[in-house]
Amino acid sequence: MSVSPSIPDRIALAERMAHCADLVTVALDALLPRAEGPEQRLMEAMRYAALGPGKRLRPFFALEAARMFDIEERPVLRAACALECIHAYSLVHDDLPAMDDDDIRRGRPTVHKAYDDATAILVGDALQSIAFEILSHPDTHDDAEIRSELVRRLARASGAQGMAGGQMIDILGFRDDLGAVARMQRMKTGALIAYAFEIPLVIARATDTKRHALMAFAHDLGLAYQIVDDLLDVEGEAEDVGKAVRKDAAKGKANFVTLLGVDEAHARVDLLRQQCKAHLEIFGPRATYLRETADFVLDR
Ligand code: IPE
Ligand code: IPE
Ligand code: MG
Ligand code: MG
Ligand code: MG
Repeated sequence: MSVSPSIPDRIALAERMAHCADLVTVALDALLPRAEGPEQRLMEAMRYAALGPGKRLRPFFALEAARMFDIEERPVLRAACALECIHAYSLVHDDLPAMDDDDIRRGRPTVHKAYDDATAILVGDALQSIAFEILSHPDTHDDAEIRSELVRRLARASGAQGMAGGQMIDILGFRDDLGAVARMQRMKTGALIAYAFEIPLVIARATDTKRHALMAFAHDLGLAYQIVDDLLDVEGEAEDVGKAVRKDAAKGKANFVTLLGVDEAHARVDLLRQQCKAHLEIFGPRATYLRETADFVLDR
């Protein structure tokens, strides 16, 4: 089965996103352990964290980008599920009292509120482990080299040089250096978003030219997406975004909005959006979906 059959071509973007979210939720439900035994509280809380109503954006990016290559859907979907487990873990830990101390996520109590801090820490640990178990399983790909490349790149994107490192900088809060803030955003959010695009690149054994173009697109999209998230903290409503708002400035967070103000932050998003589209030019009409996707997620 190629990538196209289960995500039909001619339906509108919002419908394709909803279809992808269902596909990923069903696949994750099958991959996550059932709640049983004396440790069942952990499995229950993992399922609460990973199967909750997230947008499943990163898997959507992986599946949409895969349409530009002639590859099968199954490996992309499994790797996308692994990525979504890491993303869910990052949110569970991000919300802990020792980090952003948030009570609401995806419109529901955060994991440490629904359960407790210790359970939330263990949920993050176990979601991280299962991501690598999924990737390294032979069902993900016949070729062990591709599996190990997928593992290596996800480990790097989520670790000290990626998401976890970016979270460290965010907590330390360097206040007035735009370059340092851009680097932090690329690490804490950009690295996992970029991994979504690495999935089809690795599986398709894409040429360097395609790799460089798609990674440049991914980096600009990831940065723009985090600026949009920071703008939503200032301009959005909690009911719409499913989490508390007006928190970043109060907590002394440094981001493009706190440093540049709302108007200039919007201008950055527009510039990055144009750059995103320019990076896709070498893919021609095959990139139509990704162009639309960039507009859709940046117009939240
Ligand atoms: C939230 O990510 C954290 C950021 C990196 C901005 P998403 O906006 O993708 O959150 P969910 O998965 O839909 O809840
Ligand atoms: C979170 O950034 C990024 C990660 C979880 C790695 P934020 O702290 O801005 O995300 P929200 O606003 O809580 O979703
Ligand atoms: Mg945070
Ligand atoms: Mg947060
Ligand atoms: Mg935020």
